[in-house]
Amino acid sequence: MTSAWKKSDWRSKERIQMPEFTDKAALNAVEDRLNRYPPLIFAGEARALKDKLAQVSEGKAFLLQGGDCAESFDEFSADNLRDTYKVMLQMAVVLTYGAKVPVVKVGRVAGQFAKPRSADMETIDGVSLPSYRGDIINKLDFTPEARIPDPQNMLRAYTQSAASMNLLRAFSMGGYADIHRVHEWNMGFANASGAAEKYQRLANRISDSLDFMNAAGVNSGNSQSLRTVHFYTSHEALLLEYEEALCRIDSTSNLPVAGSGHMIWIGDRTRQPDGAHVEFCRGVQNPIGLKCGPTTTADDLKVLMQKLNQDNEAGRLTLIARFGAGNVGDHLPRLIKAVQEEGAKVVWSCDPMHGNTIKSTTGFKTRPFDSILREVREFFAIHQAEGTIPGGVHFEMTGTDVTECTGGVRAVTDEDLSSRYHTACDPRLNASQSLELAFLVAEELEQRILAQRKAV
Ligand code: PEP
Ligand code: CO
Repeated sequence: MTSAWKKSDWRSKERIQMPEFTDKAALNAVEDRLNRYPPLIFAGEARALKDKLAQVSEGKAFLLQGGDCAESFDEFSADNLRDTYKVMLQMAVVLTYGAKVPVVKVGRVAGQFAKPRSADMETIDGVSLPSYRGDIINKLDFTPEARIPDPQNMLRAYTQSAASMNLLRAFSMGGYADIHRVHEWNMGFANASGAAEKYQRLANRISDSLDFMNAAGVNSGNSQSLRTVHFYTSHEALLLEYEEALCRIDSTSNLPVAGSGHMIWIGDRTRQPDGAHVEFCRGVQNPIGLKCGPTTTADDLKVLMQKLNQDNEAGRLTLIARFGAGNVGDHLPRLIKAVQEEGAKVVWSCDPMHGNTIKSTTGFKTRPFDSILREVREFFAIHQAEGTIPGGVHFEMTGTDVTECTGGVRAVTDEDLSSRYHTACDPRLNASQSLELAFLVAEELEQRILAQRKAV
Protein backbone atom coordinates (compact mmCIF):
# COMPACT_ATOMS: atom_id res chain seq x y z
CA MET A 1 0.00 0.00 0.00
CA THR A 2 1.50 3.30 -0.99
CA SER A 3 1.19 6.32 1.26
CA ALA A 4 0.59 8.50 -1.80
CA TRP A 5 -2.66 6.65 -2.57
CA LYS A 6 -5.80 8.75 -2.23
CA LYS A 7 -9.32 7.41 -1.96
CA SER A 8 -10.39 9.50 -4.97
CA ASP A 9 -7.59 8.30 -7.28
CA TRP A 10 -9.93 5.83 -8.99
CA ARG A 11 -11.67 8.80 -10.58
CA SER A 12 -8.82 9.28 -13.05
CA LYS A 13 -9.10 5.66 -14.23
CA GLU A 14 -11.46 4.07 -16.69
CA ARG A 15 -14.92 3.88 -15.19
CA ILE A 16 -16.91 0.79 -16.12
CA GLN A 17 -20.08 -0.87 -14.83
CA MET A 18 -20.94 2.30 -12.90
CA PRO A 19 -23.83 4.64 -13.67
CA GLU A 20 -23.49 8.23 -14.80
CA PHE A 21 -25.50 10.21 -12.29
CA THR A 22 -27.06 13.11 -14.17
CA ASP A 23 -27.90 15.22 -11.12
CA LYS A 24 -24.40 16.06 -9.90
CA ALA A 25 -25.61 18.33 -7.08
CA ALA A 26 -27.74 15.52 -5.65
CA LEU A 27 -24.81 13.10 -5.96
CA ASN A 28 -22.46 15.49 -4.15
CA ALA A 29 -24.97 16.05 -1.34
CA VAL A 30 -25.26 12.28 -0.80
CA GLU A 31 -21.48 11.82 -0.85
CA ASP A 32 -21.05 14.64 1.70
CA ARG A 33 -23.55 13.04 3.98
CA LEU A 34 -22.02 9.55 3.73
CA ASN A 35 -18.64 11.08 4.41
CA ARG A 36 -19.95 12.28 7.75
CA TYR A 37 -21.79 9.06 8.68
CA PRO A 38 -20.13 6.45 10.89
CA PRO A 39 -18.37 3.64 9.07
CA LEU A 40 -20.22 0.31 9.20
CA ILE A 41 -17.18 -1.59 10.42
CA PHE A 42 -13.98 -0.76 12.24
CA ALA A 43 -10.48 -1.28 10.99
CA GLY A 44 -9.61 -3.62 13.87
CA GLU A 45 -12.35 -5.98 12.72
CA ALA A 46 -11.10 -5.97 9.15
CA ARG A 47 -7.63 -6.79 10.48
CA ALA A 48 -9.03 -9.60 12.62
CA LEU A 49 -10.70 -11.06 9.52
CA LYS A 50 -7.43 -10.74 7.64
CA ASP A 51 -5.67 -12.73 10.37
CA LYS A 52 -8.32 -15.43 10.10
CA LEU A 53 -7.97 -15.54 6.35
CA ALA A 54 -4.22 -15.90 6.83
CA GLN A 55 -5.08 -19.08 8.75
CA VAL A 56 -7.28 -20.14 5.84
CA SER A 57 -4.39 -19.64 3.42
CA GLU A 58 -2.37 -22.14 5.45
CA GLY A 59 -5.17 -24.70 5.71
CA LYS A 60 -5.72 -23.96 9.40
CA ALA A 61 -9.23 -22.58 8.86
CA PHE A 62 -11.92 -22.82 6.17
CA LEU A 63 -13.82 -19.92 4.59
CA LEU A 64 -17.60 -19.94 4.16
CA GLN A 65 -18.81 -16.90 2.25
CA GLY A 66 -22.46 -16.64 1.26
CA GLY A 67 -25.62 -14.64 0.89
CA ASP A 68 -27.83 -12.97 -1.68
CA CYS A 69 -26.65 -12.24 -5.18
CA ALA A 70 -28.11 -8.78 -4.62
CA GLU A 71 -29.65 -7.45 -1.44
CA SER A 72 -32.97 -5.77 -2.03
CA PHE A 73 -34.86 -2.94 -0.35
CA ASP A 74 -38.23 -4.70 -0.77
CA GLU A 75 -37.13 -8.12 0.48
CA PHE A 76 -35.40 -6.69 3.55
CA SER A 77 -36.80 -7.90 6.85
CA ALA A 78 -35.49 -9.15 10.17
CA ASP A 79 -36.91 -12.59 9.37
CA ASN A 80 -35.13 -12.90 6.02
CA LEU A 81 -31.86 -11.75 7.52
CA ARG A 82 -32.23 -14.13 10.46
CA ASP A 83 -33.02 -17.08 8.21
CA THR A 84 -29.94 -16.60 6.03
CA TYR A 85 -27.75 -16.07 9.09
CA LYS A 86 -29.19 -19.19 10.66
CA VAL A 87 -28.47 -21.37 7.63
CA MET A 88 -24.94 -20.03 7.37
CA LEU A 89 -24.31 -20.99 11.00
CA GLN A 90 -25.81 -24.43 10.39
CA MET A 91 -23.52 -24.89 7.39
CA ALA A 92 -20.56 -23.67 9.41
CA VAL A 93 -21.10 -26.30 12.14
CA VAL A 94 -21.22 -29.09 9.56
CA LEU A 95 -18.18 -27.74 7.72
CA THR A 96 -16.22 -27.33 10.95
CA TYR A 97 -16.82 -30.98 11.65
CA GLY A 98 -15.77 -32.04 8.15
CA ALA A 99 -12.76 -29.76 7.81
CA LYS A 100 -11.61 -30.21 11.44
CA VAL A 101 -10.66 -26.53 11.53
CA PRO A 102 -12.52 -23.32 12.44
CA VAL A 103 -14.85 -21.93 9.79
CA VAL A 104 -14.55 -18.24 8.99
CA LYS A 105 -18.04 -16.92 8.33
CA VAL A 106 -18.46 -14.06 5.87
CA GLY A 107 -21.88 -12.90 4.63
CA ARG A 108 -22.63 -11.33 1.28
CA VAL A 109 -24.63 -8.84 3.28
CA ALA A 110 -24.91 -5.28 4.62
CA GLY A 111 -23.60 -3.72 1.40
CA GLN A 112 -24.16 -6.22 -1.44
CA PHE A 113 -26.38 -3.96 -3.51
CA ALA A 114 -24.60 -2.97 -6.74
CA LYS A 115 -24.57 -5.34 -9.71
CA PRO A 116 -22.39 -5.51 -12.81
CA ARG A 117 -24.38 -6.42 -15.92
CA SER A 118 -23.38 -8.13 -19.15
CA ALA A 119 -25.57 -5.77 -21.20
CA ASP A 120 -26.09 -2.02 -20.70
CA MET A 121 -29.63 -2.23 -22.04
CA GLU A 122 -32.49 -4.63 -21.44
CA THR A 123 -35.05 -5.24 -24.18
CA ILE A 124 -38.55 -6.59 -23.57
CA ASP A 125 -41.11 -6.81 -26.38
CA GLY A 126 -39.14 -4.38 -28.52
CA VAL A 127 -38.74 -1.79 -25.72
CA SER A 128 -35.15 -1.09 -24.60
CA LEU A 129 -34.30 0.46 -21.24
CA PRO A 130 -31.06 0.80 -19.26
CA SER A 131 -30.37 -2.39 -17.29
CA TYR A 132 -31.19 -2.75 -13.63
CA ARG A 133 -27.93 -2.37 -11.65
CA GLY A 134 -29.01 -3.14 -8.11
CA ASP A 135 -31.15 -1.25 -5.58
CA ILE A 136 -28.29 1.07 -4.62
CA ILE A 137 -28.41 2.43 -8.20
CA ASN A 138 -31.86 2.08 -9.82
CA LYS A 139 -35.06 0.04 -9.60
CA LEU A 140 -36.00 -3.32 -11.09
CA ASP A 141 -39.38 -2.16 -12.49
CA PHE A 142 -39.30 -2.01 -16.26
CA THR A 143 -40.12 1.69 -16.69
CA PRO A 144 -37.89 4.55 -17.89
CA GLU A 145 -38.20 6.38 -14.51
CA ALA A 146 -37.31 3.30 -12.47
CA ARG A 147 -34.13 2.75 -14.42
CA ILE A 148 -32.73 6.27 -13.81
CA PRO A 149 -29.80 6.05 -11.37
CA ASP A 150 -30.73 7.90 -8.19
CA PRO A 151 -27.97 8.77 -5.68
CA GLN A 152 -30.54 8.79 -2.82
CA ASN A 153 -30.47 5.00 -3.08
CA MET A 154 -26.99 5.08 -1.56
CA LEU A 155 -28.40 6.54 1.66
CA ARG A 156 -31.08 3.88 1.76
CA ALA A 157 -28.49 1.14 1.18
CA TYR A 158 -26.36 2.58 3.96
CA THR A 159 -29.30 2.65 6.37
CA GLN A 160 -30.31 -0.92 5.52
CA SER A 161 -26.69 -2.04 5.92
CA ALA A 162 -26.43 -0.36 9.33
CA ALA A 163 -29.66 -2.02 10.48
CA SER A 164 -28.46 -5.39 9.15
CA MET A 165 -25.12 -5.01 10.86
CA ASN A 166 -26.83 -4.18 14.12
CA LEU A 167 -28.98 -7.31 14.01
CA LEU A 168 -26.09 -9.55 12.92
CA ARG A 169 -23.98 -8.30 15.81
CA ALA A 170 -26.85 -8.96 18.22
CA PHE A 171 -27.40 -12.49 16.88
CA SER A 172 -23.68 -13.25 17.09
CA MET A 173 -23.19 -12.10 20.65
CA GLY A 174 -26.61 -12.46 22.26
CA GLY A 175 -27.04 -16.25 22.54
CA TYR A 176 -28.76 -16.97 19.22
CA ALA A 177 -25.58 -18.48 17.77
CA ASP A 178 -25.05 -21.07 20.52
CA ILE A 179 -23.61 -24.19 18.87
CA HIS A 180 -26.05 -26.53 20.64
CA ARG A 181 -29.00 -24.65 19.30
CA VAL A 182 -27.52 -24.52 15.80
CA HIS A 183 -26.86 -28.24 15.94
CA GLU A 184 -30.47 -28.94 16.97
CA TRP A 185 -31.62 -27.19 13.80
CA ASN A 186 -29.25 -29.42 11.83
CA MET A 187 -30.63 -32.53 13.48
CA GLY A 188 -34.05 -31.38 12.34
CA PHE A 189 -32.82 -31.19 8.75
CA ALA A 190 -30.94 -34.49 8.86
CA ASN A 191 -33.88 -36.37 10.37
CA ALA A 192 -36.45 -34.93 7.99
CA SER A 193 -37.94 -37.41 5.59
CA GLY A 194 -36.14 -37.43 2.29
CA ALA A 195 -32.75 -36.52 3.74
CA ALA A 196 -30.06 -39.04 2.97
CA GLU A 197 -29.09 -41.39 5.76
CA LYS A 198 -25.51 -40.24 5.49
CA TYR A 199 -26.54 -36.74 6.67
CA GLN A 200 -28.10 -38.31 9.74
CA ARG A 201 -24.95 -40.24 10.45
CA LEU A 202 -22.81 -37.13 10.22
CA ALA A 203 -25.24 -35.15 12.37
CA ASN A 204 -25.19 -37.95 14.98
CA ARG A 205 -21.42 -37.87 15.08
CA ILE A 206 -21.53 -34.12 15.73
CA SER A 207 -24.00 -34.79 18.57
CA ASP A 208 -21.59 -37.33 20.04
CA SER A 209 -18.75 -34.81 19.91
CA LEU A 210 -20.83 -32.18 21.68
CA ASP A 211 -21.86 -34.74 24.32
CA PHE A 212 -18.24 -35.70 24.83
CA MET A 213 -17.17 -32.08 25.22
CA ASN A 214 -20.00 -31.51 27.67
CA ALA A 215 -18.96 -34.53 29.73
CA ALA A 216 -15.40 -33.22 29.72
CA GLY A 217 -16.67 -29.93 31.13
CA VAL A 218 -16.66 -27.76 27.99
CA ASN A 219 -20.06 -26.23 27.34
CA SER A 220 -21.78 -22.99 26.32
CA GLY A 221 -21.93 -21.92 29.96
CA ASN A 222 -18.18 -21.82 30.36
CA SER A 223 -16.90 -21.49 26.80
CA GLN A 224 -17.55 -18.28 24.94
CA SER A 225 -16.53 -19.85 21.65
CA LEU A 226 -19.49 -22.27 21.86
CA ARG A 227 -21.91 -19.45 22.68
CA THR A 228 -20.90 -16.67 20.30
CA VAL A 229 -19.57 -16.37 16.77
CA HIS A 230 -17.67 -13.86 14.67
CA PHE A 231 -19.66 -13.03 11.60
CA TYR A 232 -18.13 -10.74 8.98
CA THR A 233 -19.66 -8.82 6.09
CA SER A 234 -18.59 -8.51 2.47
CA HIS A 235 -19.77 -7.19 -0.88
CA GLU A 236 -18.54 -6.36 -4.35
CA ALA A 237 -16.93 -2.91 -4.27
CA LEU A 238 -18.60 -1.81 -7.48
CA LEU A 239 -20.14 1.58 -6.82
CA LEU A 240 -17.01 3.53 -6.05
CA GLU A 241 -18.72 6.79 -5.08
CA TYR A 242 -20.26 4.86 -2.16
CA GLU A 243 -16.99 3.10 -1.31
CA GLU A 244 -14.99 6.33 -1.38
CA ALA A 245 -17.50 8.14 0.80
CA LEU A 246 -17.25 5.42 3.47
CA CYS A 247 -13.47 5.11 3.32
CA ARG A 248 -11.80 6.25 6.56
CA ILE A 249 -8.33 6.62 7.99
CA ASP A 250 -7.81 4.07 10.74
CA SER A 251 -6.55 5.86 13.82
CA THR A 252 -4.47 2.86 14.94
CA SER A 253 -2.52 2.18 11.77
CA ASN A 254 -3.02 5.50 10.01
CA LEU A 255 -3.95 3.50 6.91
CA PRO A 256 -7.13 3.82 4.85
CA VAL A 257 -9.87 1.29 5.49
CA ALA A 258 -13.07 0.66 3.53
CA GLY A 259 -15.76 1.36 6.12
CA SER A 260 -18.51 -0.21 4.00
CA GLY A 261 -17.84 -3.85 5.00
CA HIS A 262 -15.15 -6.10 6.43
CA MET A 263 -14.13 -7.66 3.11
CA ILE A 264 -14.70 -6.23 -0.35
CA TRP A 265 -14.20 -7.97 -3.65
CA ILE A 266 -13.56 -7.12 -7.27
CA GLY A 267 -15.94 -8.75 -9.75
CA ASP A 268 -15.05 -10.72 -12.84
CA ARG A 269 -16.07 -7.80 -15.08
CA THR A 270 -14.16 -5.04 -13.27
CA ARG A 271 -10.77 -6.59 -12.60
CA GLN A 272 -8.80 -4.69 -15.29
CA PRO A 273 -5.33 -4.11 -13.75
CA ASP A 274 -5.48 -0.41 -14.73
CA GLY A 275 -9.15 0.07 -14.00
CA ALA A 276 -10.92 2.13 -11.36
CA HIS A 277 -11.93 -0.81 -9.15
CA VAL A 278 -8.45 -2.22 -8.74
CA GLU A 279 -7.19 1.32 -8.05
CA PHE A 280 -9.64 1.78 -5.19
CA CYS A 281 -9.19 -1.65 -3.64
CA ARG A 282 -5.41 -1.64 -3.71
CA GLY A 283 -5.30 1.30 -1.29
CA VAL A 284 -7.50 0.07 1.55
CA GLN A 285 -6.25 -2.34 4.18
CA ASN A 286 -9.30 -4.68 4.24
CA PRO A 287 -9.13 -8.25 3.00
CA ILE A 288 -9.79 -8.16 -0.74
CA GLY A 289 -11.46 -10.77 -2.91
CA LEU A 290 -10.73 -11.13 -6.59
CA LYS A 291 -13.01 -13.13 -8.85
CA CYS A 292 -11.09 -15.28 -11.31
CA GLY A 293 -12.95 -16.53 -14.37
CA PRO A 294 -12.13 -18.35 -17.61
CA THR A 295 -10.83 -15.10 -19.16
CA THR A 296 -8.41 -14.34 -16.31
CA THR A 297 -4.91 -14.64 -17.80
CA ALA A 298 -1.89 -15.74 -15.79
CA ASP A 299 -0.15 -12.47 -16.69
CA ASP A 300 -3.05 -10.34 -15.49
CA LEU A 301 -3.29 -12.36 -12.30
CA LYS A 302 0.40 -11.74 -11.60
CA VAL A 303 0.00 -7.99 -12.05
CA LEU A 304 -3.17 -8.00 -9.94
CA MET A 305 -1.52 -9.92 -7.10
CA GLN A 306 1.34 -7.46 -7.14
CA LYS A 307 -0.97 -4.44 -7.12
CA LEU A 308 -3.48 -5.76 -4.63
CA ASN A 309 -1.04 -7.37 -2.24
CA GLN A 310 2.21 -5.49 -2.57
CA ASP A 311 3.56 -6.78 0.74
CA ASN A 312 2.49 -10.37 0.05
CA GLU A 313 0.57 -10.39 3.29
CA ALA A 314 -1.23 -13.66 4.09
CA GLY A 315 -5.01 -13.15 4.36
CA ARG A 316 -5.04 -9.99 2.30
CA LEU A 317 -6.05 -11.57 -1.01
CA THR A 318 -8.67 -14.23 -1.67
CA LEU A 319 -8.87 -15.58 -5.21
CA ILE A 320 -12.45 -16.63 -5.88
CA ALA A 321 -12.46 -19.14 -8.73
CA ARG A 322 -15.65 -19.27 -10.83
CA PHE A 323 -15.09 -21.29 -13.96
CA GLY A 324 -18.16 -23.51 -14.30
CA ALA A 325 -18.46 -27.28 -13.84
CA GLY A 326 -16.33 -29.09 -16.39
CA ASN A 327 -14.06 -26.07 -16.91
CA VAL A 328 -12.09 -26.00 -13.67
CA GLY A 329 -9.38 -28.29 -15.06
CA ASP A 330 -8.81 -25.93 -17.99
CA HIS A 331 -8.16 -22.89 -15.84
CA LEU A 332 -7.38 -23.53 -12.20
CA PRO A 333 -4.04 -25.31 -12.75
CA ARG A 334 -2.64 -22.48 -14.89
CA LEU A 335 -3.65 -19.88 -12.29
CA ILE A 336 -2.28 -21.97 -9.42
CA LYS A 337 0.99 -22.10 -11.39
CA ALA A 338 0.98 -18.28 -11.72
CA VAL A 339 0.50 -17.96 -7.95
CA GLN A 340 3.34 -20.40 -7.31
CA GLU A 341 5.68 -18.65 -9.75
CA GLU A 342 5.14 -15.43 -7.84
CA GLY A 343 5.44 -17.10 -4.44
CA ALA A 344 2.21 -15.28 -3.65
CA LYS A 345 0.24 -15.94 -0.46
CA VAL A 346 -3.43 -16.27 -1.32
CA VAL A 347 -6.61 -17.91 -0.16
CA TRP A 348 -8.23 -20.05 -2.87
CA SER A 349 -11.99 -20.08 -2.66
CA CYS A 350 -14.54 -21.70 -5.00
CA ASP A 351 -17.60 -19.85 -6.30
CA PRO A 352 -19.55 -22.63 -8.05
CA MET A 353 -22.45 -20.30 -8.84
CA HIS A 354 -21.43 -17.81 -11.51
CA GLY A 355 -20.07 -20.29 -14.04
CA ASN A 356 -23.15 -22.49 -13.81
CA THR A 357 -26.04 -20.22 -14.70
CA ILE A 358 -28.34 -21.61 -17.40
CA LYS A 359 -31.78 -20.91 -18.76
CA SER A 360 -34.36 -23.51 -17.69
CA THR A 361 -36.80 -25.09 -20.09
CA THR A 362 -39.41 -22.88 -18.43
CA GLY A 363 -37.44 -19.73 -19.23
CA PHE A 364 -35.97 -18.96 -15.78
CA LYS A 365 -32.32 -18.22 -15.09
CA THR A 366 -31.31 -21.13 -12.87
CA ARG A 367 -28.42 -23.24 -11.61
CA PRO A 368 -28.56 -27.02 -11.27
CA PHE A 369 -27.54 -28.27 -7.84
CA ASP A 370 -25.48 -31.05 -9.45
CA SER A 371 -23.37 -28.60 -11.50
CA ILE A 372 -22.70 -26.56 -8.36
CA LEU A 373 -21.56 -29.65 -6.47
CA ARG A 374 -19.53 -30.85 -9.43
CA GLU A 375 -17.59 -27.59 -9.67
CA VAL A 376 -16.80 -27.73 -5.94
CA ARG A 377 -15.55 -31.31 -6.32
CA GLU A 378 -13.38 -30.39 -9.30
CA PHE A 379 -11.93 -27.50 -7.29
CA PHE A 380 -11.02 -29.82 -4.40
CA ALA A 381 -9.61 -32.51 -6.68
CA ILE A 382 -7.33 -30.06 -8.50
CA HIS A 383 -5.99 -28.60 -5.29
CA GLN A 384 -5.37 -32.11 -4.08
CA ALA A 385 -3.46 -32.94 -7.26
CA GLU A 386 -1.44 -29.70 -7.11
CA GLY A 387 -0.71 -29.98 -3.42
CA THR A 388 -2.33 -26.59 -2.76
CA ILE A 389 -5.02 -25.58 -0.30
CA PRO A 390 -8.73 -25.37 -1.19
CA GLY A 391 -9.48 -22.66 1.33
CA GLY A 392 -13.19 -22.11 1.07
CA VAL A 393 -16.47 -21.81 -0.76
CA HIS A 394 -18.58 -18.87 -1.92
CA PHE A 395 -22.32 -19.40 -2.43
CA GLU A 396 -25.33 -17.37 -3.49
CA MET A 397 -27.92 -18.57 -1.02
CA THR A 398 -30.79 -17.56 1.17
CA GLY A 399 -32.40 -18.95 4.29
CA THR A 400 -35.89 -18.94 2.84
CA ASP A 401 -37.62 -21.61 0.83
CA VAL A 402 -37.23 -20.12 -2.65
CA THR A 403 -37.29 -22.11 -5.89
CA GLU A 404 -34.46 -20.57 -7.92
CA CYS A 405 -31.86 -23.35 -8.30
CA THR A 406 -32.97 -26.78 -9.48
CA GLY A 407 -32.23 -30.11 -7.79
CA GLY A 408 -31.31 -31.06 -4.25
CA VAL A 409 -32.83 -33.66 -1.99
CA ARG A 410 -36.19 -31.87 -1.91
CA ALA A 411 -35.89 -31.66 -5.65
CA VAL A 412 -36.82 -28.36 -7.28
CA THR A 413 -37.78 -29.01 -10.91
CA ASP A 414 -37.85 -26.66 -13.91
CA GLU A 415 -41.63 -26.51 -13.48
CA ASP A 416 -41.29 -25.49 -9.80
CA LEU A 417 -39.12 -22.45 -10.53
CA SER A 418 -42.04 -20.08 -11.07
CA SER A 419 -43.54 -20.85 -7.66
CA ARG A 420 -41.16 -18.89 -5.40
CA TYR A 421 -38.63 -17.20 -7.67
CA HIS A 422 -37.80 -14.04 -5.69
CA THR A 423 -34.28 -13.02 -6.63
CA ALA A 424 -33.78 -9.67 -8.31
CA CYS A 425 -30.60 -10.99 -9.87
CA ASP A 426 -28.99 -14.46 -9.87
CA PRO A 427 -30.68 -17.66 -8.61
CA ARG A 428 -29.83 -18.64 -5.03
CA LEU A 429 -29.69 -21.96 -3.22
CA ASN A 430 -32.58 -22.24 -0.79
CA ALA A 431 -32.14 -23.23 2.88
CA SER A 432 -32.40 -26.97 2.25
CA GLN A 433 -30.10 -26.92 -0.78
CA SER A 434 -27.51 -24.81 1.09
CA LEU A 435 -27.43 -27.17 4.02
CA GLU A 436 -27.32 -30.23 1.82
CA LEU A 437 -24.37 -28.76 -0.03
CA ALA A 438 -22.63 -28.13 3.30
CA PHE A 439 -23.13 -31.80 4.26
CA LEU A 440 -21.71 -32.94 0.93
CA VAL A 441 -18.74 -30.57 1.11
CA ALA A 442 -18.10 -31.64 4.71
CA GLU A 443 -18.08 -35.26 3.60
CA GLU A 444 -15.64 -34.42 0.81
CA LEU A 445 -13.34 -32.53 3.21
CA GLU A 446 -13.45 -35.33 5.74
CA GLN A 447 -12.61 -38.00 3.20
CA ARG A 448 -9.61 -36.02 2.01
CA ILE A 449 -8.36 -35.56 5.57
CA LEU A 450 -8.75 -39.27 6.28
CA ALA A 451 -6.92 -40.12 3.03
CA GLN A 452 -4.07 -37.78 4.00
CA ARG A 453 -3.84 -39.32 7.47
CA LYS A 454 -3.65 -42.77 5.96
CA ALA A 455 -0.93 -41.67 3.58
CA VAL A 456 1.28 -40.43 6.43
C1 PEP B 1 -21.47 -11.90 -8.06
O1 PEP B 1 -20.70 -12.38 -7.22
O2 PEP B 1 -22.68 -11.67 -7.84
C2 PEP B 1 -20.95 -11.67 -9.43
C3 PEP B 1 -21.52 -10.80 -10.26
O3 PEP B 1 -19.92 -12.45 -9.71
P1 PEP B 1 -18.85 -12.39 -10.91
O4 PEP B 1 -18.21 -11.04 -10.83
O5 PEP B 1 -17.92 -13.51 -10.56
O6 PEP B 1 -19.60 -12.63 -12.18
CO1 CO C 1 -24.49 -13.19 -8.63
